[in-house]
Amino acid sequence: MAKAPLATAVSRAGGIGFLAAGLDASTISSSLSQAKKLLDHQDQDASSSPLPVGVGFVLWGSDIASAAEVIRKFVPAAVWLFSPRKVADLVTWTEKVREASDGKTQVWVQLGSVAAAVEAAGLCKPDVIVVQGADAGGHGLARGAGVISLVPEVADALAREGHGHIPLLAAGGISDGRCVAAALTLGASGAVLGTRFLAAKEAELKPEHAEEVLRTADGGVSTVRTTVFDAVRGTTGWPADYDGRGVANRSVDDAEKGMGVEENKRLYQEAVAKGDGERGKQGRMITYVGTGVGLVREIQSAADIVEGLRRDAMAILEQTRAKF
Ligand SMILES: Cc1cc2nc3c(=O)[nH]c(=O)nc-3n(C[C@H](O)[C@H](O)[C@H](O)COP(=O)(O)O)c2cc1C
Repeated sequence: MAKAPLATAVSRAGGIGFLAAGLDASTISSSLSQAKKLLDHQDQDASSSPLPVGVGFVLWGSDIASAAEVIRKFVPAAVWLFSPRKVADLVTWTEKVREASDGKTQVWVQLGSVAAAVEAAGLCKPDVIVVQGADAGGHGLARGAGVISLVPEVADALAREGHGHIPLLAAGGISDGRCVAAALTLGASGAVLGTRFLAAKEAELKPEHAEEVLRTADGGVSTVRTTVFDAVRGTTGWPADYDGRGVANRSVDDAEKGMGVEENKRLYQEAVAKGDGERGKQGRMITYVGTGVGLVREIQSAADIVEGLRRDAMAILEQTRAKF
């Protein structure tokens, strides 16, 4: 869903958009070529700056050699590392990214606990640490805190261990300017939004999928963290401490009532075979979203989203200060 039109629109508006390489680094070349064209970016030479988009890799199943090839060729501004089998794998990836880009590509790592953030900071000295809270849409740690306690605890722990200079970004449940203002007051240098950009004009998802995002409210109740989505889709292989948050649907309901994986998988495949089958509580199609989904109410251009977030966050911070 996060392809070149979305990533470049976010970057052009003053954020940084990430392309999702997911588990398969070989597919990302064409998106990067398109991003380069859309941004009218000149070929890399000694004087040129990196391509102003990032690329996200899901480490546990990604091939580091293909990733390095793509990084060497396109030199993206940042690489996003997520879900290593062990924190030490981040070291290998960090070294490879820095070597392939001649140090021009920043290394961002997304982590979900205080211990992992401190360990990663010490082992691979990332340029940015993204702290992912339990409200986040998509995959993340099954056991974790929300950003309201996680971000300040990570900030304190990093400062204690001598890593206080590494910028922290908050991710998970952040859907509007109020949430961005809150993230900044928690000690984050910025915010990461996934769910909100599912409602960007440039996001590549089917209309029924986008409608489901707009329709879903009360995210703490209507979404759930579970491994059922991966089980029915067959996307198994995630590290054991991960699951994913999405709209609670019929597959989850059936699993909770005791249906076995094979039967649940069969029903899911039947729903997929019907085309983009039914969504929502009664459906089986998977809609990964965070608890902030209830704040996502309209489709907007990515530029309007980024500019609105920045404008609203600044206004709220000023209003809050004026209150005291
Ligand atoms: C549909 C969807 C797909 C995602 N895919 C990935 C992914 O491929 N790699 C990754 O590191 N994070 C992924 N995430 C998680 C994001 O990195 C981020 O933690 C999350 O979107 C932040 O929470 P929010 O969705 O509440 O804004 C995904 C999130 C969503 C909603």
